[in-house]
Amino acid sequence: MDKNPVYPEALIDALRASRHVCVLSGSGISAESGVPTFREAQTGLWEKFDPHELATPEAFLRDPELIWRWYRWRRELVAKVEPNAGHRALVDLASRVREFTLITQNVDGLHQRAGSDNVIEFHGNIFEDRCFVEGCVVKDASDVSSAVPACPACGGQLRPGVVWFGEAIPEDALNKAMAAASTCDLFFSIGTSSLVWPAAGLADTARAAGARIVEVNPNPTPLSDMSDFCLSGNAGTVLPELVSRLLASELRA
Ligand code: OAD
Repeated sequence: MDKNPVYPEALIDALRASRHVCVLSGSGISAESGVPTFREAQTGLWEKFDPHELATPEAFLRDPELIWRWYRWRRELVAKVEPNAGHRALVDLASRVREFTLITQNVDGLHQRAGSDNVIEFHGNIFEDRCFVEGCVVKDASDVSSAVPACPACGGQLRPGVVWFGEAIPEDALNKAMAAASTCDLFFSIGTSSLVWPAAGLADTARAAGARIVEVNPNPTPLSDMSDFCLSGNAGTVLPELVSRLLASELRA
């Protein structure tokens, strides 16, 4: 795969002319911060662990202590790392275009720590606690260190605030993401395998509404052939370079 991507002038022009840029990010954008992706051979989390044992409501009901041990491990891992140049470049990009929407499948909060505002968290947030019984977000859980913390309101078991397989996307996030995908004119898919639905369908929604599609990924995905521009490389390299070319083009004009 070409790791020295071409940055077509047509893409820079499209960025300059854009009314609304919408970005969908996936775990690949956090890879350079040291957060493992899910499906990559050797290093992906789902290569080493069975998602049905760790990321379903049934798994939680079977063994909530195991699930909490797994998510506490991931919380600690994510808390120790820093946002990278890819996350930061999206903050710059947002300030250079008319309208910008960032949707992320990531639960790590690294976009927000880099300075992105109004991030739509499609799969929840790993640092949130939610009541398994009532579904509400719990901000003041007092026994967070116990093996399975309890909801202070109803006493039910708390769970991490992430979306598991077989669960619905939070309604507000889904509505906002669909609205952005169907009104943007440039849609970026960054660091995602485009295999998990409904997130993977956002690019289709954008395309059907007339947006051009840009993929940033070192590897091909099912979206690559449908993309107008494929920037084949790591987000931490490609995105800062793209933003700096956009800036250079603005200065030349
Ligand atoms: P995947 O592991 O499926 O895909 C990661 C993608 O990132 C791959 O296509 C890699 O080629 C690409 N990649 C790796 N390093 C990169 C880099 N430095 N820059 C850019 N791209 C890079 O992860 P996701 O697509 O995020 O869901 O997975 C989607 C969902 O599946 C996750 O949100 C999670 C998982 O199960 C839930 O937890 C609900």
